[in-house]
Amino acid sequence: MSKGPGVEKMFDAIADRYDLMNRLMTFGQDRRWREFVVEKAGDPGNGWVLDLASGTGDIAALFHQKASSAKIIGADFSRNMLARANKRFADQQIFWQACDANKLPYDNDVFEAVSFGYLLRNVDDSLHVLKQVYRVLAERGRVVCLDTTPPKKNLLYPFIRLYLAVIIPLLGMLIARDSDAYAYLTGSTMDFHEAEQLAELFRRAGFNKVGFKKFMFGTIAVHWGEK
Ligand SMILES: C[S@@+](CC[C@H](N)C(=O)[O-])C[C@H]1O[C@@H](n2cnc3c(N)ncnc32)[C@H](O)[C@@H]1O
Repeated sequence: MSKGPGVEKMFDAIADRYDLMNRLMTFGQDRRWREFVVEKAGDPGNGWVLDLASGTGDIAALFHQKASSAKIIGADFSRNMLARANKRFADQQIFWQACDANKLPYDNDVFEAVSFGYLLRNVDDSLHVLKQVYRVLAERGRVVCLDTTPPKKNLLYPFIRLYLAVIIPLLGMLIARDSDAYAYLTGSTMDFHEAEQLAELFRRAGFNKVGFKKFMFGTIAVHWGEK
């Protein structure tokens, strides 16, 4: 069964508490990772930028701050997440749009940059989505992806595993009143592609100059590439 409908429903349900949970789970580090995403996207000039799976809009808003001449779309299939983004950044000219990353409703070769935070872990076929992103990017356009990544089995592994398996669902229960959604975060992180494998999928989708950097004890990765 496709992950899509369940994921959409889950994000619709946690939209109100999503930002607070993010700050708590990442010890406030998430902003720094998003800033890195925008930096790696390069300068889009006055072209179009797409922040896919934009959620409550943090990455799209950072683009708006740092690339003030660019035209920015924040797209997501959860209408509650988009409604929150719209409310949080009502004073900024960002175009919020409902769409499914599996079937992007944009022409070929349109965007100077496409970013997505925590999307690929939630789709059935990462390669398919990466090919969609490749299609809508302009020549030499840049893709940047932020996501969790399965931790390596080193000395820290038992502590990281405990944090993921116990602390995060507990926080989810206390703060978001939804431990299942945050147990899903842990499960989907452990099942997700290793950072090296994900980089290979970027190459298979057609991207050049692919690289990645890890954060937070190797549990977060930012990948990038160029069309
Ligand atoms: C964990 S949130 C991340 C939000 C935001 N990018 C951030 O950095 O905080 C994941 C978002 O991906 C969206 N999403 C998941 N699968 C999607 C799909 N197939 N198409 C569009 N949005 C999707 C969810 O609705 C949710 O808002």
